[in-house]
Amino acid sequence: MALLDISDLQVVYPNGHVALKHISLQAKAGEIVAIIGRSGAGKSTLLRCINGMQPATRGRIVLDGDEISAMNERALRQARSSIGFVWQEFNLVERLPVMTNVLTGRLGHNNPFASFFGYFNAEHREIALKSLSRVNMMHRASNRADKLSGGEKQRVSIARAIAQEPKILLADEPVASLDPELSMQVLGDLARVAREVGVLTLINIHQVEFAVQFCDRIIGIAQGEVEYDGAPDGLTGPVLDRIYRFDKQGSPDINLTPAHAVA
Ligand SMILES: Nc1ncnc2c1ncn2[C@@H]1O[C@H](COP(=O)(O)OP(=O)(O)OP(=O)(O)O)[C@@H](O)[C@H]1O
Ligand SMILES: [Mg+2]
Repeated sequence: MALLDISDLQVVYPNGHVALKHISLQAKAGEIVAIIGRSGAGKSTLLRCINGMQPATRGRIVLDGDEISAMNERALRQARSSIGFVWQEFNLVERLPVMTNVLTGRLGHNNPFASFFGYFNAEHREIALKSLSRVNMMHRASNRADKLSGGEKQRVSIARAIAQEPKILLADEPVASLDPELSMQVLGDLARVAREVGVLTLINIHQVEFAVQFCDRIIGIAQGEVEYDGAPDGLTGPVLDRIYRFDKQGSPDINLTPAHAVA
């Protein structure tokens, strides 16, 4: 059975804009999936639906047997403790130490009373440190988050998400705030760590070349519909045209064609 099962998902925003038309997809534990598509294709809307921040207008999202799309706010809060999220802008608490930031990933597993007093037992602290070591950031555990570079901040935010021991990890343009060299390193770290712990990971990304390099599977979305769903080497020139140049107007701001793609 699929860990994530999305069927006929539609999202219409209150202003009448249809962001997702009828998205259906399944994913298994351990898959590393890139979601690509033009700006406005619906990538962030899709991730927000999976963690319940955006209600579905129609359709179902089932994660590990639980229907996210049917949950009330209380059930969603509980479900989100098993959904890791990596944001473009890191979303760390800047004035707090790195370790404390990573420990917030343990909140869903900790006794609420203990959390209120900032207490995390040895097991939680060990998991947090192990997560930091996976992204090679253990040496920064006691530094304040605001003293870190952008790449370091994103590594800490990956550690925080992994410390959650989530069923699924969602990353919305996790390297969009980093320079190209650092983007490659941090995305490589994200994919490596996700593989090490075997967590299903969905990554919204604009750099097609990174998606091809680091992910097992690519989902191309155009105008709220799945245009491609398959292996990276199926991402040929004509497929990229269907994802990015369906209206034949304007040109994307990146070189979309991976080395192996046919023109
Ligand atoms: N709250 C909202 N109300 C109305 N329309 C919205 C809202 N949020 C997003 N949209 C529209 O829905 C469409 C999909 O938006 P979404 O943010 O999911 O796209 P995206 O693929 O993530 O784009 P980008 O690559 O720029 O991040 C866009 O046309 C966007 O303008
Ligand atoms: Mg987006």
